[in-house]
Amino acid sequence: MTGRVAGKTALITGAAGGLGQAMARMLVREGARVAVSDRDLNGARALADSINAEHPGSAFAYEHDVTREDDWVRVVAAAAEDMGGLSILVNNAGIGGQLAWAEQDTLENWRLVQAVNIESVMLGCKHAMPHLRACGAGSIVNISSIAGLAAAPGMGAYNATKAAVWLYTKTVALEAAKAGWNVRANSVHPVFIKTPILDPFVAMAGGDETTAHEKLARGIPLKRIGEPDDVAYCVLYLASDESKFVTGAEFKIDGGMTAQ
Ligand SMILES: NC(=O)c1ccc[n+]([C@@H]2O[C@H](COP(=O)([O-])OP(=O)(O)OC[C@H]3O[C@@H](n4cnc5c(N)ncnc54)[C@H](O)[C@@H]3O)[C@@H](O)[C@H]2O)c1
Repeated sequence: MTGRVAGKTALITGAAGGLGQAMARMLVREGARVAVSDRDLNGARALADSINAEHPGSAFAYEHDVTREDDWVRVVAAAAEDMGGLSILVNNAGIGGQLAWAEQDTLENWRLVQAVNIESVMLGCKHAMPHLRACGAGSIVNISSIAGLAAAPGMGAYNATKAAVWLYTKTVALEAAKAGWNVRANSVHPVFIKTPILDPFVAMAGGDETTAHEKLARGIPLKRIGEPDDVAYCVLYLASDESKFVTGAEFKIDGGMTAQ
């Protein structure tokens, strides 16, 4: 088998969504097998079927609510069993939550965003780690956001969770290094990428996607928003042994946004 991640086995959460699909397809194109999980089982199955049509036996689909620890235990075990091990974990599932300033935010929204965006990352690292250690060269890729490095009005819950993903990733990286395990952990920080997570911004622009995307692009030095593959290429690098000396690092995929 050839490819930049030939023979590796990856679990990608939230894989029915825009970024997860691009990551899964790219990792398979480069020789990996993928376990695609999502709370949307039909979406995960459709993705796995479409990948398997081109690369038979490369993708496995699972129903997985990342906020539930029992789901993590079941999915990690099944993925490792079906793929013959687990060497890559991509904690990708995430939600934007409601846009609300501090006074208007609700505890319900806050807790939901915490559960999906950061508690899931802890549960994933915890339950995947034994498999990542056992495979001899493991890689954790946590999908944070530019919103984890810079704040914006109305995005308190999202900002707080994505900042937590950023620092928690470093903790896990240092623990694995200290223990002498060959497991690396890094975070990825995209700016606006064309996926359904931007739907609230499209709604604010009266449903016109082009206008919404142009508006979002105005603050980005490259004057455009990103494509899912812009993020998938970074995940591919971090998942591969090309990044074997890279751990506890953050990767900004932001068209120059945070250079300003
Ligand atoms: N697209 C962007 O502009 C952008 C920018 C920065 C960071 N991100 C991050 O990238 C990741 C992927 O986002 P996307 O753009 O593909 O969004 P998306 O909305 O297209 O996909 C998100 C997926 O997560 C799944 N999901 C939501 N809650 C879940 C749960 N409890 N359990 C399991 N699955 C669940 C959804 O079903 C969906 O398939 C998220 O963590 C997001 O915060 C996205």
